[in-house]
Amino acid sequence: MNYAIVLRALMARPQLHASWLSTLSLLEYVGARKISRTFRLPTAAVISHFAEEARHARFFKERAERLDPGSRPLLAGRARLYFERLDAGVARLLLSHGVKEPQAAYVLVTRVIEERATDLYTDYNRLLKEMHHPFTLDGVLAEEGRHLQLMEELTLAWGLETCLQEARQEEVRHFEPFFALLERLATGAAEASLAEAPLPGSR
Ligand SMILES: [Fe+2]
Ligand SMILES: [Fe+2]
Repeated sequence: MNYAIVLRALMARPQLHASWLSTLSLLEYVGARKISRTFRLPTAAVISHFAEEARHARFFKERAERLDPGSRPLLAGRARLYFERLDAGVARLLLSHGVKEPQAAYVLVTRVIEERATDLYTDYNRLLKEMHHPFTLDGVLAEEGRHLQLMEELTLAWGLETCLQEARQEEVRHFEPFFALLERLATGAAEASLAEAPLPGSR
């Protein structure tokens, strides 16, 4: 996916860029909460993953506040919905393959989210460097790379390779409309309040 046009538009104004950073912070925060809700007795590896996602949420929020102390995320409702619908969709597809364990759903959902994060952050990092921004995502990307590697190992260990392509398609189904709305906001084609209007079938 080509993110550059949208990212450049989001980065063009400091206030909008701050809102984008707040959006990433929210996504990381929701991701961290998802980990903490999934495991009642977490291993050290799970706690590290949780801590790193929470740290990413703080990293993005601190950068946002430096650009605009009052910054708020774009499409906060849709960002949460992305996780909810992806969770539900992957659980459904696993069930259709006869897999019922919640941890298998966690592995597959996290796998496709880590793929998305790595992809998006790589492009964003390139633009940050190109525009000589005072921060880069090198540290965040190194940790996302480790998360992705762990999820690749777990996908194999759980025998979930056969469901991976479908899970990726499910993720695309939820990410693309979210990113298309971001594009409309970034280019001034939509107002935030309009873009947050409820989706059909959403609560
Ligand atoms: Fe992260
Ligand atoms: Fe991650």
